[in-house]
Order: sequence, then structure tokens, then C-alpha cells
Amino acid sequence: MRIDLRESWFVRDVEIPTRLVLAPMAGVSVQAFRRQGRRFGAGLVCSEMVSCAGIEHRNEKTLGYLRVASDEHPLAIQIFGSEPRAMAEAARMVEAAGADLVDINFGCPVRKVTKTGAGATLLSEPARAAAIVESVANAVDVPISVKMRRGLRDGSRTALEVGPQLVEAGAATLTLHPRSAQQMYTGAADHTLTAELVSLVDVPVIASGDVTSHARARAVLATTGAAAVMVGRGAQGNPWALREIVDGEDAEPSREEVVAELVLFIRETVRELGERRASGFLKKFYGWYLGRGRFPRPFKQELVVLDSTDEVERRLLAAAPGARRLLEELEAELPGGDEVLLHLPISIYGGG
Ligand SMILES: Cc1cc2nc3c(=O)[nH]c(=O)nc-3n(C[C@H](O)[C@H](O)[C@H](O)COP(=O)(O)O)c2cc1C
Repeated sequence: MRIDLRESWFVRDVEIPTRLVLAPMAGVSVQAFRRQGRRFGAGLVCSEMVSCAGIEHRNEKTLGYLRVASDEHPLAIQIFGSEPRAMAEAARMVEAAGADLVDINFGCPVRKVTKTGAGATLLSEPARAAAIVESVANAVDVPISVKMRRGLRDGSRTALEVGPQLVEAGAATLTLHPRSAQQMYTGAADHTLTAELVSLVDVPVIASGDVTSHARARAVLATTGAAAVMVGRGAQGNPWALREIVDGEDAEPSREEVVAELVLFIRETVRELGERRASGFLKKFYGWYLGRGRFPRPFKQELVVLDSTDEVERRLLAAAPGARRLLEELEAELPGGDEVLLHLPISIYGGG
């Protein structure tokens, strides 16, 4: 079977230029991550989940508010909640902010979310889940996507029963991460379920879970019939993996490239979250970027104890002075200006 990851596909009338989707990851998928994902070949990027409960009571622990930039499109914004009316309201805000797709989270296994009746628990309440999808689909003109786990307990096949009902209710695409909520991230994603789901619905299906290479992406697409693969953890601190997954060209980045991308990521994140939030948020990224044998381990340890991101940036550029020129080029290419700030809080309690 001929499989080209660079082929475009459609969710209703939204054209997605490649068959690679960047996963929504709470605590990771900030705007800098999404924009970078687009530059490295993701055809569709997805925001972190935003809480529709935030509309009513704004006391959630959040990372701040969602920002959408002009170079992120096509962009899916993910919402979570358990009330059809509040979800419809959130969907309208998300559409007004420029989302090309409204994504609904029925996959989050984190207790803080499931105890409110949202996330993966909705898989055990198909009537409510369908009511949410219907209410959201009626509220907006853009297509609705739904992201699910296979079910709540190990071995569950709930997604195969619920998925077709959600399409009936108005979902224009489904993403399946075929692990149970109970599994969290242990074991392996069982894409035989993805293949079954593809055979049951007439909308495009996105396969999520354990795709980290071009070979694996092709195998998943070939054996499931999915329209696209979604990549999450494999892209953390490693946008070069996205390029390899799309094109099959495996080129390790130079130290200068790693530093230029990381410094750009730091600057963009500080702009988005502010220095105080960003400095804590960014620490995990230092290990992700600088690991994989790219820099000696003590260098990362030095960075994570520094208080200010300015200081981190200085150390990084001192370690790879040639990165300055690359960084200037990257910054020159970023469009500035027309950003939309969305008054929906980004939840830090993510998962799916
Ligand atoms: C840190 C982290 C946060 C996540 N947050 C979300 C989320 O907010 N919404 C969601 O639908 N899935 C979330 N996920 C699940 C991913 O989107 C994806 O389905 C899962 O990680 C499997 O793909 P992977 O093997 O490529 O990482 C999260 C995953 C991780 C690792």
C-alpha cells in the first residue's frame, strides 16, 4: 500500500496538510510547542485542554489563558467538561477565537478531571457523551472531533460501542488512544482496536499512541486504515522526530540547532505564560531537549537550578555560540502581532 505522510486529508471542509497530528498534552502543548510542531511537519496541532467549568467558576488551578497565533492553523482547541450546555458555551468561545476544530476530551484518566464527571468517565455514560457532542455540534459551525481512550478498565472495548454513537451525534472525526484509563501510560497502545473503529465509522480516525518513527507511523496507517497518526511524547523536546516521522529522513540535530530551538521555545513560553510561571514550567523541557546524548548530563542539572530564564538562555548560548545566528533566523520567520487571547483557563490536570 502506498502511504505518504505528506498527503493532505480533510475533516469535513478543513484541509489538514499532512497525516501527522501533534497531540494535545496538558503541561506541554503551549503555543510555542504547537507553532514548532507546525514548522516541523504536523498538519494539525491541538491545544491543551481548556476547562469549560472555568467559565462559571474561575478558581481552577491553571496555567493561564489560551492564546492563538496566526501561524497555528489548522488548530484544534480541546475542551473538557461534563455539562452539555457549558460545553456548547465553551465551544462557541473556542470557535470565536479561531479554532478550526473543536476537540472534546473523553480520554483524560486523571482523577481531578474524572471525579467531575469529565474526561474518560464519559465513556461509561454514552448517552451523556452523545448529548455533549450533539450540543457542541449544534453550537458551532466548525467540525467537532472527539478524543477517546479504549475505555475505563483494562481490556475494555467501550470505544467501539461509543465511537459510532458519537459520530451519529455529530463528531466529524475521532481520535483513539487505545489504552484504558486504568492503564494510564503503561503497556502498549493496541492499534488493532483502532483498525476496528475505522471499520465501524465513516469519518476519518486518528491513531494515537506509541508512534515515534516513520516506520511505525507507516505501519499504523497501513494496518488500521486511519487517516492520520497523532504523536505526543515522542515530540517532547524533540521536534526533529516529527520531521523524521513525516519524511523518513533521520538527521540528528546539531548542538547549535538544539540550543536555537530551545532558546526560541523559552522566549516564546515566557511571552505566553510570564516569567514566573514559565520558569517552573520549562524545567522539564531542559532534560527533554538536552538529553539523548546531545549534552553532558551535568549541564542539564546546572540549568534546572537557575532561577531566571535569562540566565538559562545565557548558559545555553555560551555552550553553543553558533546558535545565535540560527535563533535570529528562526525569530525573523515568526509572524508577530495578531494573537487572540481566549478567556478559558488552561487546565494543568491533563491526560488522555
Ligand atoms: C503529559 C501528557 C499530557 C497529556 N494531556 C492530554 C490532554 O490534555 N488531552 C488529551 O486528550 N490527551 C492528553 N494526553 C494524551 C496524548 O494526547 C496521547 O494520546 C498519549 O500520550 C499517547 O500518545 P503518545 O504515545 O504519542 O504519547 C497527554 C499525554 C501526556 C504524556
